[in-house]
Amino acid sequence: MKLTKLLFISAVVSSSLLANVTVKTDALIEEAKKSGLVAIPDNDTELLKLTDPKGTLSPEKVELGKKLYFEPRLSKSAIISCNTCHNLGLGGVDGVPAAVGHMWTPNPHHLNSPTVYNAVFFSAQFWDGRSPHLEDQAQGPMQAAPEMAAPKSLVEERINSMPEYVEAFKKAYGKDVKVDFETITSTIGIFERTLVTPSRFDDFLNGKEDALSEAEKEGLKTFMAKGCTSCHTGIALGGTMQPFEVAAKYKFGNIGDFKGDANGMVKTPTLRNITETAPYFHNGAIWSLAEAVKEMGSIQLGIKISDEEAAKIVTFFNALEGRKPTISYPQLPKSTEKTPKPDFK
Ligand code: HEC
Ligand code: HEC
Repeated sequence: MKLTKLLFISAVVSSSLLANVTVKTDALIEEAKKSGLVAIPDNDTELLKLTDPKGTLSPEKVELGKKLYFEPRLSKSAIISCNTCHNLGLGGVDGVPAAVGHMWTPNPHHLNSPTVYNAVFFSAQFWDGRSPHLEDQAQGPMQAAPEMAAPKSLVEERINSMPEYVEAFKKAYGKDVKVDFETITSTIGIFERTLVTPSRFDDFLNGKEDALSEAEKEGLKTFMAKGCTSCHTGIALGGTMQPFEVAAKYKFGNIGDFKGDANGMVKTPTLRNITETAPYFHNGAIWSLAEAVKEMGSIQLGIKISDEEAAKIVTFFNALEGRKPTISYPQLPKSTEKTPKPDFK
């Protein structure tokens, strides 16, 4: 055979091979969408419709919310901020099994700190789903004794004692703003609405076929084939209330006393950035992601997931590591003589 002919044949073969791969990838994107997986929009207007449906965001509020998120003086001891347990440099978590709060107190129910990244997409907040959205949610930890332990009046007194904060609230909300507990906490919620992390998986769903490696595509297929998307679905790959211990008991269920909401339902954690947020489960009892995947198979689906399958799913999870927003560490207003002192009781 002549060289030119050979080259021609190989060109045809490779282009048809390529076409084949493209078709398969298209089909995989379709299948993922059919199973309920949704991309973070790559267009800012579309994204804002999801993160700010009521149009409450403004640069001034977000910047102020960021300061408050990093503000340790919102805690009784004046050393614990939201970022202590939801560290934005650590995937939005603290990396310990049970959160540690005021006066070194571990969470009394042995609850693990969930990530704040992408929490804006959850339909329920907290492991038992007791809070509907971020603005409401932020009231909880500030007052909770094992977390920041600060009564409303202390929070209000601290913030109002610093003229720079009062000015910032006026700039964000107008000069008649009342700098009360509700406004302080809801401003933190507004900042949290910006903590969205688009990943290569989103690029893939948005049509960039080579955004995932072949091994990650294989892992995505396994993830769907095993039935994980019956709960870890939607834009957060989680974030809704679901039954727990469907097919078997959780092997570490005796650590802490958490049993879900009144109906035994548990808030499904997001799988976005899951490779960065060990340890896993509501009580942080499992450190290995592959082990968490296998445990899910037995307790939620009643199937045995092999080591090989678990490894494939974990490979897919790498594609869910998101691009974090760039956050510059804020300078916080200085305390004044009026600022209530740290309280270690
Ligand atoms: C002492 C550690 C600690 C501090 C400080 C803390 N949190 Fe949390 N956070 C937790 C734990 C633990 C949970 C889960 C508690 C539960 O489900 O009952 C949680 C839950 C959340 C959730 C719900 C996420 C989800 O997936 O359900 C959000 C959002 C959140 N915290 C934001 C904040 C904000 C904002 C602050 C500051 C005002 C804050 N947290 C302070 C430990 C902490
Ligand atoms: C019936 C609903 C359901 C199904 C099906 C399901 N999950 Fe889950 N998943 C949950 C809930 C609820 C939790 C939280 C359980 C807890 O900690 O109490 C969870 C927790 C997890 C965690 C730990 C997350 C964290 O941040 O701690 C991982 C990882 C996980 N699931 C992966 C999977 C995989 C992989 C599959 C498929 C093999 C799967 N899940 C199937 C509902 C489900």
